[in-house]
Amino acid sequence: MEHLVSGWCNDRSLPESYILPPEKRPGKLTVPLANNIPVIDLGGHDQTDLIQQIFEASQEFGFFQVINHGVPSNLMDEAMSVFKEFHALSGEDKAIETSKDPNKSCYIYTSSPNYATEKFHFWRDGLMHHCNPLEKYIQFWPEKPPRYREVVGPYTAEVRKLGFRILEFISQGLGISPDHFSSGLSENQTLLVNHYPPCPDPSLTLGVGKHRDPGGINILLQSDVYGLQVFKDEEWVGVEPIPYAFVVNIGYLLQIISNGKLKGAEHRVVTNSNVARTTASLFINPSSETLVEPAKALIDASNPAFYKSLTYKDFLSKYIAASSDSKALEEVLSTAL
Ligand code: OGA
Ligand code: NI
Repeated sequence: MEHLVSGWCNDRSLPESYILPPEKRPGKLTVPLANNIPVIDLGGHDQTDLIQQIFEASQEFGFFQVINHGVPSNLMDEAMSVFKEFHALSGEDKAIETSKDPNKSCYIYTSSPNYATEKFHFWRDGLMHHCNPLEKYIQFWPEKPPRYREVVGPYTAEVRKLGFRILEFISQGLGISPDHFSSGLSENQTLLVNHYPPCPDPSLTLGVGKHRDPGGINILLQSDVYGLQVFKDEEWVGVEPIPYAFVVNIGYLLQIISNGKLKGAEHRVVTNSNVARTTASLFINPSSETLVEPAKALIDASNPAFYKSLTYKDFLSKYIAASSDSKALEEVLSTAL
């Protein structure tokens, strides 16, 4: 894995292949922090109120943060420590620790999974692995740092529980069955541990370019270092790091299932020149063969489906082909054409 940014970033200025075309550069490096991205207290006992808050945030922003979410804070600290320790290993160790499964349920990449074909690169290394069912996949996870499996096993189990609780609230807010997501639509649970080393010129590059997550939801542990921005009302706003909160964002799948009621939010990651930033995304996504379509309960003669039915695999190939062009993607998915 000779390409990993963390392997060479200390010795070089920003290579040309990381310099984005002017219109894709971060522009102003200090954008305002969004003071209106909701912070929802899941410890509240009024379920109707929680459902309402989550639903409104998912409609308006496609983003919210949750606190009092039930995932123990020491488990969040320990997980963040082993994530950082993993990315601090030598390139050789990282290659060994991520090549235990011939079917590649665990792997490491740099920039994006399309490194070989992309026009320019992003300032990020990513460790990706499946996490459910745990018994099936944990044998392929890294064994260095030594506590990786012992800590990340319970961490992913807890965050997954939180994710399902949020999906249930979202379903209730939409007025569809609370277990709408309980089978194929949530079968693929993947952890992506992102690492963004300090960058020699944050104004010219990004950690992750503008995108919508393709799947259901992402429960993100963002650590205490700022970097995540959301595109809201044609402007970039920053997502404030809040200690022990999770950032939740709605993916494209929920936009389709809700027939456009909920928003798959566009976001990106900026880098900084001082400190490394490590984050962990737990994605709850469909399995490849699962049919992705607007929920039947939301469709009738006066509310026609805006999106075609597709298997998630076919949806993903259209998502990848559209790259980050969200208009082009809307067009190929729309029933109007
Ligand atoms: C992602 C993502 C944001 C971050 O993993 O899809 O948008 O702050 N991550 O690392
Ligand atoms: Ni994302």
